[in-house]
Amino acid sequence: MLRTVRLLIWGLVALAAVGFAALLLRPASVSPGEASLAPAQPGAPGIALGGPFTLTAADGQPFNSAQALAGKPYAIFFGFTNCPDVCPTTLARLAALRQKLGQGSDAFQIVFVSVDPERDTPEAVGNYAKLFDTPIIGLTGTRAQVEQVAKQHAVYQARVKDPAAPDGYTVDHGAAVLLFGRDGKFVGTIAQEESEPPALDKLRRITA
Ligand code: NI
Repeated sequence: MLRTVRLLIWGLVALAAVGFAALLLRPASVSPGEASLAPAQPGAPGIALGGPFTLTAADGQPFNSAQALAGKPYAIFFGFTNCPDVCPTTLARLAALRQKLGQGSDAFQIVFVSVDPERDTPEAVGNYAKLFDTPIIGLTGTRAQVEQVAKQHAVYQARVKDPAAPDGYTVDHGAAVLLFGRDGKFVGTIAQEESEPPALDKLRRITA
């Protein structure tokens, strides 16, 4: 009897130790809500990020980046049209930056890719892209397509349950804007918290 009790106690001690170790080792928790997410860290310029992709344009036709964006510098951003904060703020900011850009702004393209394709139909994305008083290429696709393109750009995206949100879910996504030169090569990012002068400077460089 005593032996059984002793074994039992040692078993409990071992369990507690394992539990404590698990607590120490678990990754830092990330709270939901994109504002708290770190911007995408796609790595240093020159890294093979991006590359050709095919999605669906606002008119329902296939959008082939290799053709449509050939020779054009562009900024690409991932989000969803129901986004309450980061997406509208970022797109409005890009629109304002383009207006300040002046020279080179004609070639410069702003690309918005929905990572909520279940709700964001081509039409929905197209209508949303029109809200910013500047031409924005709104794109969507199948779930597999948008996930692939987000992955290609090292952009985090995930559907998250949220009873308070429309349809009971929201979409967490990376908040960084990725910049590509005329040659289609990744040149850098504009972070969410970045001030205007360096952001504008980056756009000047890719559109020069
Ligand atoms: Ni958003």
